[in-house]
Amino acid sequence: MRVLGIETSCDETGIAVYDDQQGLLSHTLYSQVKLHADYGGVVPELASRDHVRKIIPLIQKALDDADSSQADIDGIAYTRGPGLVGALLVGASVGRSIAYAWNIPTIGVHHMEGHLLAPMLEASAPEFPFVALLVSGGHSMLVRVDGIGSYELLGESIDDAAGEAFDKTAKLLGLDYPGGPLLAKLAEQGEPGHYKFPRPMTDRPGLDFSFSGLKTFAANTIRDADNNAQTKANIAYAFQEAVIDTLIIKCRRALQQTGLKRLVIAGGVSANTALRSAMTKLMNDVRGEVFYPGLSFCTDNGAMIAYAGLQRLKAGQTTALSESVVPRWPL
Ligand code: KG4
Ligand code: ZN
Repeated sequence: MRVLGIETSCDETGIAVYDDQQGLLSHTLYSQVKLHADYGGVVPELASRDHVRKIIPLIQKALDDADSSQADIDGIAYTRGPGLVGALLVGASVGRSIAYAWNIPTIGVHHMEGHLLAPMLEASAPEFPFVALLVSGGHSMLVRVDGIGSYELLGESIDDAAGEAFDKTAKLLGLDYPGGPLLAKLAEQGEPGHYKFPRPMTDRPGLDFSFSGLKTFAANTIRDADNNAQTKANIAYAFQEAVIDTLIIKCRRALQQTGLKRLVIAGGVSANTALRSAMTKLMNDVRGEVFYPGLSFCTDNGAMIAYAGLQRLKAGQTTALSESVVPRWPL
């Protein structure tokens, strides 16, 4: 089976072709980051229009790169939600139109399922069951995964997502949008021991997160600090250290609670190098294994949607052409 995957939930147009025998055959990605940078965040209307502009050329390129055409595509997977409604509608409409014209099935994929299965695109893929930490710009959650579609939410953020906290704190530090990777880079210059940020919700039981307090703490710290470049790097370091520590504490707890030894970290923030080394250390300590997507599949992409869609189509599931997108959709 060979599937064309379409991701347009936010500000990246991601298209890929995945084959269940040969693996990932091609993937193309167009990021709108530059378009939204002037506004300090994603402008939904501009995002939709840019998806419309780029989606067909990217599909053509992904098919060409995969040496594929109508004759060998067996299904279309598109991101059905959660995400920006206008952006989702572009991918869903184009995906359904192609499926109708080619008379093949479609499957609407949950964006976070895409993220959590992204490590399956790697040569050393995790076996089920595992605990997944999903940390993106829109979501932070811990999920017990027993198989495709068998997900138990263990905990989630009650306010800002981890990536959102990175982006908002980066903005306070005067960094461009999206600031997560830039803050991580600045933190590399930071020295430990200058600031101590709180570790939200770690002093009580449970697996939920809260990150909005960190952003407020950062705002107050920045207000009271000098404007020196080293000071800013020290603040970035302390903020990142607090996020990572919090995630480590919750992951350790989730592994204890479930008795599982396999951990998957996915979503945009899983690209963070300091987080990866801290998680690798944690899993060495508990004699477990940790799995990440490749760096280009941490953030939004079409490959994870093609992969997740193929698994569901193979299991006989489809989404009717009349079904709409779901901008707010629990996993
Ligand atoms: O998964 P993703 O591409 O989009 C959503 O589904 O939200 O995640 C994007 C988020 C942004 O908040 C971005 O700042 C963050 O992931 N991010 C990072 C890093 N790379 C991306 N945060 C911290 N360190 C990074 N290296
Ligand atoms: Zn995402």
